[in-house]
This record gives sequence, C-alpha cells and structure tokens, in this order.
Amino acid sequence: DASDIEKGTYPHYMLKEIDEQPLVTRRIIEKYRNEDGGLTVDAEIVNAVNAADRIYIIAAGTSYHAGLVGKQFIENWAKIPVEVHIASEFSYNMPLLSENPLFIFISQSGETADSRAVLVQIKELGHKALTITNVQGSTLSREADYTLLLHAGPEIAVASTKAYTAQLAVLSILAAVAAYGKGRSLEFDLTKELGIVANAMEVLCDQKEEMEAIAREYLSTTRNAFFIGRSVDYYVGLEGSLKLKEISYIQAEGFAGGELKHGTIALIENGTPIIALATQEHVNLSIRGNVKEVVARGANPCIITMKGLEEEDDRFVLPSVHEQLSPLAAVVPLQLISYYAALHRGCDVDKPRNLAKSVTVE
Ligand code: AGP
Repeated sequence: DASDIEKGTYPHYMLKEIDEQPLVTRRIIEKYRNEDGGLTVDAEIVNAVNAADRIYIIAAGTSYHAGLVGKQFIENWAKIPVEVHIASEFSYNMPLLSENPLFIFISQSGETADSRAVLVQIKELGHKALTITNVQGSTLSREADYTLLLHAGPEIAVASTKAYTAQLAVLSILAAVAAYGKGRSLEFDLTKELGIVANAMEVLCDQKEEMEAIAREYLSTTRNAFFIGRSVDYYVGLEGSLKLKEISYIQAEGFAGGELKHGTIALIENGTPIIALATQEHVNLSIRGNVKEVVARGANPCIITMKGLEEEDDRFVLPSVHEQLSPLAAVVPLQLISYYAALHRGCDVDKPRNLAKSVTVE
C-alpha cells in the first residue's frame, strides 16, 4: 500500500512509525487469530518449537533486544529454555548446542548479514530455523524452514520502532500458542491483554508534548545519559539507550540496576540524566533503591513507572498493562524521548550518520 511508505503530514518517518504501533499491535492480533477468536500459529511451527529442547534466538541491534524479552515469554509460558545471542558473536563463538535445538532469527529486514551467516552455519549442521521478519521473501525468510511475519508495514526510519513492538507481540503469541500446545494455560487472556497494550500505546502517542518536555529537560545539552532497570525493564532500557545514541548521538548506556555498584556508578556526575524504568512490582523497591544511590551522587533522575506503582517524584506514569507485556508500552515513551532529543539537537532523525537501514555486510 503506497500510503504505507509516504510520510503524509508527518515531519519524519520515525514519528509516523511510532504512531503506527497501536494499529500494528491490533493488526497482529487479527492476523494471528482463528475463527473461534483464539490465537493461532501454523501447527508446523508450534510443533517445531515444542519439539526443541532449547531455543537459540539470533539477532542484532533492536531485534536482539526484542529477543531478550521474547526469551522471558517463551521460558515463562512454554517452559522451553532459551538462549539469546548477538549474531555477529555467535558465528565465531558458537556455544555447545543442545541435542534438538531450534533457531529463531529475529530480523525486521530479513537481510542482516550477521544473522544470515549464522543461518548458513546452522543449516550446514542440519538444524531447523524459524525467521520472524517484517519482509516476506527476504533472505532470512527464504532460507529458513519457517517464517512468521510481523505485519508492521514498511519501516523506513533507520531507528527501528514499530518493528520492535511487533516482534514482541509476535513472540508473545508464539510463546503462548506453544504453551497451549503443551497443555499449559496462561494465567491471563493474551488477546485481551495485547488489546490493552494497544490502547495504552495510543494514550502514550497522545502525550507527545510531555515527551518533548522530558527530552528538553534532560537531554538537550547533556553529553551522556544512562538507562537503568531490573528484569525486563533492563532490556527496555537497553533498547531506549540504543534509540537515543543512534539518532541523537548522546553517549547513552543501559545498565542493570544491580550492576551499578559494580562499576558504572563511577560515571555519575552532577546532573547526569538517569532514566530509570520502574514498571515491575517484584523489583520496584530495588530499582528505587538504585535511584536513591545515583541521586546521592548528583544524578538527575527521570523515573518512568506504571500506574499502580507510582510515587511522588516520578516523572512519567505509564497506563497500566499486564506486567509481563510492559516492554511493549514502556518502550514508546523512550522512542519519543529519543525522537525529540534528536530533533532538539538538530540531528537527521530518519537518516542518522554512519548508519544504514539494513546492515548487509558482516
Ligand atoms: C535499530 O534501531 C537499528 N537501526 C539496528 O540496530 C537494527 O535493529 C539491526 O541492524 C538489526 O536489523 P534487522 O532487524 O533488520 O535484522
């Protein structure tokens, strides 16, 4: 559809693609639904997942960050052990593989050379591969045994946004359907919870002024910025920091809250922006403890929390979504904050320096 690749009234593709996330999430629910209204994935794929004694997720960049969250879905719901690997490292440092592995390649473009190199290697070893991609007929799709599509529509901006949340949505559906296939049921209705996520994304996309204000307040002149979180919030922080560094050129890093004291806290200076994610009840106290530690050393904290966990000085409260699906919502303000930070700093949002949309060289 031509309208998919036009900016319309948007100043940048990235902003358009951020705004498309509620629609894409709803489209994914529809695409993976059967006539009875339940979620479904091709039986061959579900069987391949459930036949595996271990799953190896291979990806790069944002898709790797999606893999980290996807591991949680698959392990928690389908109870299959999962390892997540950076493609470029895996190819020369292959771990000892299990007896019946299944490889899942996550790639928006389906053309990432680092991932393809691993696909070629593991096919030579006779293993099966599933590719989760946005591009039908892409190399990684054609060369794998199975494909699941993201249905996100073309993603033009170099910074990946809607592909990430689409990857999470598809991974959650795959994990849930694999769990059902094993006779396990989830403690909640995933279709309903993904619908709630889509609504939350819509609310978040309507809060652009607030995001712009946060970007202005914390990121307009800073040299660096840190993201902290625990559990899945840590993974969302990694994605938030990648977004920020690639389009605003701010030196940004994501850290696990508990690792701060093991070295990174030495980086905190007066005024260092710390974006702290606190969306997970089971680690809420500990991440807030980390915030106190960095504030005591002069950091400027921006706490992003979720409704129900909010405290007085929190900077932004996300609408409530299911705790395990929170990355799908929590990433949206981080995408928008990065967008506005890049805009304020006069950067080329859609085409950041030194980067290509798909990296077709190893
Ligand atoms: C994300 O914003 C990046 N530009 C980049 O990290 C990207 O996710 C990575 O190159 C992987 O691409 P793929 O999903 O098309 O394989």
